[in-house]
Amino acid sequence: MTTSRPSGRQFPADFLWGSATASYQIEGAAAEDGRGPSIWDTFSATPGKVLNGDTGAVAIDHYHRTAEDVALMKAHGLHAYRFSIAWPRIQPTGSGAVNQKGLDFYSRLVDQLVEAGIDPVVTLYHWDLPQALEDAGGWPARDTAYRFADYAAVVAEALGDRVKIWTTLNEPWCSAYLGYASGVHAPGRENHADSLAAVHHLNLAHGLGGRAVREIVGAETQLSITLNLHVTRAASTSPEDIDAKRRIDGLANGVFLGPLLDGAYPADVLADTAEITDWSFVQDGDLETINTGIDVLGVNYYSTGMVRKSQTPRVPGDGTPGPDGHKSSPLSPWPGTDDIEWMAMPGPHTAMGWNIDPEGLTELLLDLHAAYPGLPLAITENGAAFDDEVTPDGRVHDERRVSYLHDHIDAVGVAMDKGVDVRGYFVWSLFDNFEWAYGYDRRFGIVRVDYDTLERTRKDSSYWYAELVRTGAIPS
Ligand code: NOJ
Repeated sequence: MTTSRPSGRQFPADFLWGSATASYQIEGAAAEDGRGPSIWDTFSATPGKVLNGDTGAVAIDHYHRTAEDVALMKAHGLHAYRFSIAWPRIQPTGSGAVNQKGLDFYSRLVDQLVEAGIDPVVTLYHWDLPQALEDAGGWPARDTAYRFADYAAVVAEALGDRVKIWTTLNEPWCSAYLGYASGVHAPGRENHADSLAAVHHLNLAHGLGGRAVREIVGAETQLSITLNLHVTRAASTSPEDIDAKRRIDGLANGVFLGPLLDGAYPADVLADTAEITDWSFVQDGDLETINTGIDVLGVNYYSTGMVRKSQTPRVPGDGTPGPDGHKSSPLSPWPGTDDIEWMAMPGPHTAMGWNIDPEGLTELLLDLHAAYPGLPLAITENGAAFDDEVTPDGRVHDERRVSYLHDHIDAVGVAMDKGVDVRGYFVWSLFDNFEWAYGYDRRFGIVRVDYDTLERTRKDSSYWYAELVRTGAIPS
């Protein structure tokens, strides 16, 4: 294994070791037991949107294999399992009548987890918006936030007796900007003003939904939201490049952290985007609702980026690839930044083309701790896609993934040594699964899935991670 860091670091006994998945990426059974269509069904069925025309119709068939999958979690000794609820299983058209069979599926899953001694960590929204709500306006429409709060209450009523850790949204950055600006994610719309309205309504959904969950589940609720905060560096110390970084920080991080934790949108973001929107969708009382308080902040981390003020401003619609390894798009995911250029990062890279930079994770955790001292954090996703090979012994010797996890988990420990309160770590992902616009082409799992037979095979990283969970120390 090529790692630049020592092994053996010991984590606290009560540190929560888990793994994460998401409904559309693993469940399949897309038309079963009353589930309605989501924006990802529609998007993936649209030619040219997902690599190889893949869809989540079958995915890894987790819907029919929960017993086998929970047994695998148990084999890893996991303390916790982070999964998401498919809104269209609960409310097939996004509002009104509740589909009991959908609730029953998750209730059985929660029972099996509890029985296996694994804490369920529920994410209410991991991108599968009911199509009917998109047809009514989607996240740029305010009503979607109210519908989310109703849905959150239904799920909290059904599972709140057994589930205490709740995450409202996963990576609203992706929902807003990849869904409504660059359009590389469902629903595939391209409008910068809409993407900023989506940001706000996602924030509002968090506030309204979070309040609902807390009221129903009560004092034991651990309320969180998961953000993919961006660690972006300026290409030079020139004032122009530093300003480019400031603007990206605002659009990536400030628009979420500000209302959530400071009760306001950062003034510089409002000024930077004034030509795109006047933010009049922010209504009286919204900021108090969003700033309802969280018990833990979920952090998803994969890589870092670098920006500079462009010498040749990009022409909107010129097809320049966006950051984060996402497909080339006519419109940048970043509203109002046509004069900002993303630099190629030095390697090594994962199969997503993302650079490997564990220091960035330490830096992010230290920055969050400095800005919000006392706020508990959890790494709700971290992991890597590589082109795995099954060797003749039937095994997957994924030593680059082991090395990635080793170094990033050590980077978490470094931040903890410096006083950051990190409560847990969830590897992304337990299984190979549907990687959104990349379909089944990118494998993030520590367990391999054969997409012909749906057979699960533990990779070397799976045994390595199980050893870490068993001892609480980073194995070599
Ligand atoms: C973030 C998302 O939450 C997850 O769904 C995705 O598969 C991973 N990152 C890897 O891209």
